[in-house]
Amino acid sequence: MNDDLNTAAGDLDHLARVAAGEAGEVEQVHAEVTELAAVRKARRKSTQATAPTKPRRSGHGAGAQFLILDGSEGQGSAGVYFVGRDAEGNEKAPLWVCAPLHILAKTRGAKQADWGRLLDWHDADGHPHRWAVPDELLSGDGLDVRRELMRQGLAISPNRAAREMLSTYLQVWPVDARARCVERLGWAGPVFVLPNEAIGADAELVVFQSASAIEPAFSSAGTVDDWRAQAAALAAGNSRMVFAICCALAPPLASLAGEDSGGFHLRGKSSSGKSTALALAASVWGSPATFPRLWRTTTNGLEGLATMHNDVLLILDELSQCDPKDAGDAAYLLANGQGKTRASRAGMARQAARWRLLFLSAGEESLSAMMTRADKRANAGQEIRLADIEADAGAGLGAFDTLHGHPSGAALSLALKDAVQQQHGAVGVAWLRLVVRDRLKLADEVTALVREFVDAYTEPGSSGQVIRVARRFGLVAAAGELATDYDLTGWRGGEAFDAVGQCFTSWLAGFGGAGNREDRALLTQVRAFFEVHGASRFESMEATVEQRVANRAGFWRDGEDTGRQFLVLPEVFKRELCAGFDPKAAAKALIEAGVILAGKDGKASRSERLPGIGATSRVYVFGSKLWACEE
Ligand SMILES: Nc1ncnc2c1ncn2[C@@H]1O[C@H](COP(=O)(O)OP(=O)(O)OP(=O)(O)O)[C@@H](O)[C@H]1O
Ligand SMILES: [Mg+2]
Repeated sequence: MNDDLNTAAGDLDHLARVAAGEAGEVEQVHAEVTELAAVRKARRKSTQATAPTKPRRSGHGAGAQFLILDGSEGQGSAGVYFVGRDAEGNEKAPLWVCAPLHILAKTRGAKQADWGRLLDWHDADGHPHRWAVPDELLSGDGLDVRRELMRQGLAISPNRAAREMLSTYLQVWPVDARARCVERLGWAGPVFVLPNEAIGADAELVVFQSASAIEPAFSSAGTVDDWRAQAAALAAGNSRMVFAICCALAPPLASLAGEDSGGFHLRGKSSSGKSTALALAASVWGSPATFPRLWRTTTNGLEGLATMHNDVLLILDELSQCDPKDAGDAAYLLANGQGKTRASRAGMARQAARWRLLFLSAGEESLSAMMTRADKRANAGQEIRLADIEADAGAGLGAFDTLHGHPSGAALSLALKDAVQQQHGAVGVAWLRLVVRDRLKLADEVTALVREFVDAYTEPGSSGQVIRVARRFGLVAAAGELATDYDLTGWRGGEAFDAVGQCFTSWLAGFGGAGNREDRALLTQVRAFFEVHGASRFESMEATVEQRVANRAGFWRDGEDTGRQFLVLPEVFKRELCAGFDPKAAAKALIEAGVILAGKDGKASRSERLPGIGATSRVYVFGSKLWACEE
């Protein structure tokens, strides 16, 4: 072992004895440190008459061996020092551990677990940093903590013995203050937690604690007034742009109103203004250059992103870059609000990550088109979780409806991108302050607005799937109207409602009306079956000459007022007509659509006497309504 290590081992041994409660020693250490501080102070006074720096040291306890000097008394002197002693108990020269690093509070989670420490320091540019570090990370050699602190600009001694004292300092420095830590951003009771601050007040300070000091995607440039005058004003009258902004405002309201997670997808041709809309949405929370993410992330990456955007908007661009095989699962993962359960090191199931978020995505094709490309069928659940909106607003201007005097869509796109580059982030924080302040009364207002939207844009008797998506759009509309009431947008009352309504109408048209998605897919499949096989695999019931039908699917007959009916054999019905669907549920849906003529007993199949088979057999009878209900 080298000298440094020997010394460090001796120091630690000494420290352990102090920590073990040798009271006399604690007093002694205290006295020594006080003395040392006095010496330093005197020295500083002689060289620097002004700006005396007060050394901070612990009053009592095991931390008495560390000393923090905040000011500069010559280059490199500020920092955390370790004051060790030799074998005879004589004080050694203080060992510089790192730049000033303050422990503001001990933190713990709601269940008195997940203890940690809230650290505060400045980087070499004088930029402040804060990180609530979980104590768990200090259980080993502290390497991860050092690495993260260095990454965030804390100067740490290159001397091995000194830098290893950092972990000890963090653990033994006495801290009386307490803070409540949470492991995800967003609502924590009455408080909304952002990476750098908690908005609102609770009984105690609430901080976000994580294994790494995250670089906040949230950032701010410019003012609310300028954002409203430049970005929001250009968005007005443009349904897709207003929609995007409202989307960004909506997530903090979702949990107040008890609404689900879910996403929206702007689909349209290249260079139509999709990413422009995403940039506008991003400008509510942070820089349009960094806030939007790309779909092309692994599923694990998505989980991380989802927890980092809990209760705010997650923006994902370029759906087509995502592996088509993963896209549907990703939509489920994000919208279901829960990640995979993973085993901890001890083999116990760790709590799966949870989140509630809205996400806004863009791409040249829809989720279902993409999945079809990969020979997968998007199920209704996936399509509902990621509501597809045609990015083209239908005015011949791409995603725009009006150009506000700009000569072209391209010019407006550039003006918008320019505006949000200069002005972003302030409006999100202003909005949060208002939402947190008024959260109790907002819950009812949001619920009422959502209901108003759903009533205005859906027909009575719409399917549960349609209502569910309409509620999500309604939440977005509500957020826009409330933000307008708070004078954050500068839009006329009703602007948000109308814009979101237009986007919902676009979704509904693409979804194919007010019915259930699966039912329509089933009908399409059934119709296609008769179109392809109607002439070849069905025998006539009335034929007098023997027919040769290969691979028979059933029979047909023409009634005078019933039109042509197809009688399908049970096995063919199950295996071919209902391929990919549950036969029972499919039969029920087909009866409801009037396509299958149910028997008198209410059963989906009926007993019919079939030529060549003799006794009666059960068959499924398809009436002419099959062709009538074609879209
Ligand atoms: N509505 C529009 N009409 C004409 N040109 C447009 C329109 N919107 C955008 N553009 C042009 O396309 C450029 C890129 O805009 P944007 O990033 O919003 O497109 P996008 O729809 O996301 O395209 P991509 O699918 O290729 O990502 C703009 O700088 C502008 O030149
Ligand atoms: Mg784009």
